[in-house]
Amino acid sequence: MAILVTGGAGYIGSHTCVELLENGHDVIVIDNLSNSSLDVLDRIHTLTNKKVTFYKGDLLDRTMLETIFTGHSIESVIHFAGLKAVGESVEQPNRYYYTNLMSTLHLLQVMDKYNVHKLVFSSSATVYGTGNLMPLNEEARLSAVNPYGRTKLMIEEMLADHYRSNQAWRFIVLRYFNPIGAHPSGMIGEDPAGRPNNLMPYVTQVAVGKLPELNIFGDDYSTHDGTGVRDYIHVVDLALGHIQALKKTAEPGYHTYNLGTGQGYSVLDVIHTFEEVNGNPVPYRVQGRRSGDAAVCYADVEKAKKELNWEATRGLQDMCRDAWRWQVQNPNGYQKARSFQSN
Ligand code: NAD
Ligand code: UD1
Repeated sequence: MAILVTGGAGYIGSHTCVELLENGHDVIVIDNLSNSSLDVLDRIHTLTNKKVTFYKGDLLDRTMLETIFTGHSIESVIHFAGLKAVGESVEQPNRYYYTNLMSTLHLLQVMDKYNVHKLVFSSSATVYGTGNLMPLNEEARLSAVNPYGRTKLMIEEMLADHYRSNQAWRFIVLRYFNPIGAHPSGMIGEDPAGRPNNLMPYVTQVAVGKLPELNIFGDDYSTHDGTGVRDYIHVVDLALGHIQALKKTAEPGYHTYNLGTGQGYSVLDVIHTFEEVNGNPVPYRVQGRRSGDAAVCYADVEKAKKELNWEATRGLQDMCRDAWRWQVQNPNGYQKARSFQSN
């Protein structure tokens, strides 16, 4: 029996594939490579000495999905595939709603048809919107402030409705906080197309000299140093959270878990830790606040600890060190195999 990983060539998916293979699972990946590269699969092979079965395909193509489900005995699905850029979702809402929602609907239809009912879904802390008290537990009020976030919220609701209608389903919804870092080998990591939107890839590109300086979005928040605070989580810890989530699908149910460390760090904490650990300066300039940003966001991780028997063990220093190793070893990411030019 195999695990089907949608979006398995992407940032979090590739790290999860490594952990799945290391844990003895057979892995099938479907990815349209719209935000990833075929190179990732060779790197996963080099790292684990095991191969994933790869289908280059789109979840919007139902026939392709059917081919996979008829050709393999699939036990569970981990569903990473989707579009994830907040700004782009505001500019292209139709593309975001269509891709993220239709992909998931196709997946659910085909899974049901082939009697596969175990699904782990990539949600995001963005579903908590604004106005909640910290730390955020899974019962906090949900709201989303952009189309990307609304697709996550809608998919969560879609899954809950499927469970209400058929209790054979086993859904684990994982709300990620801020995944950063890379595999400690430096062989796989985050490879954003164009100028990064998120903090850590921006920091590493400044440190390596690809970008002149980091813009800090606001230093007048009510935080210990005025800059925004987030719950950064090492991508390997996050990947391991999926292994534990799969175990939880042994019993029927719909469960939601925060995957974070429970610890908040400011933008300046990240910069200073990065400089200290890697010995490279990160020049920065303070700018105005970025619209839509919260001052502080960090998780209550007790539920995942208790029910998934999982907790993050890697600290900010590990995240900074591993992100930097990936950047230095791959100054142009997986560019060689990308179908489009970054930067
Ligand atoms: P990613 O873009 O690196 O990976 C997504 C993968 O899905 C890519 O390889 C892409 O080519 C593929 N894909 C996209 N649309 C597809 C489609 N229609 N059919 C087949 N493949 C498709 O993103 P990631 O950072 O690894 O994120 C994985 C998931 O986790 C996403 O659903 C994202 O929304 C969610 N998430 C990510 C973060 C984050 O900070 N990275 C935070 C919270 C939630
Ligand atoms: C962003 C998205 C969120 C998504 C998450 C993970 C927005 C408004 N939110 O969250 O929906 O789930 O990424 O993909 O885009 N920062 C800088 N300079 C930079 C980049 C970031 O100062 O160049 C600051 C931000 O203001 C924030 C922190 O760094 O305080 C983290 O930013 P980022 O990595 O973009 O993550 P989020 O804002 O948490």
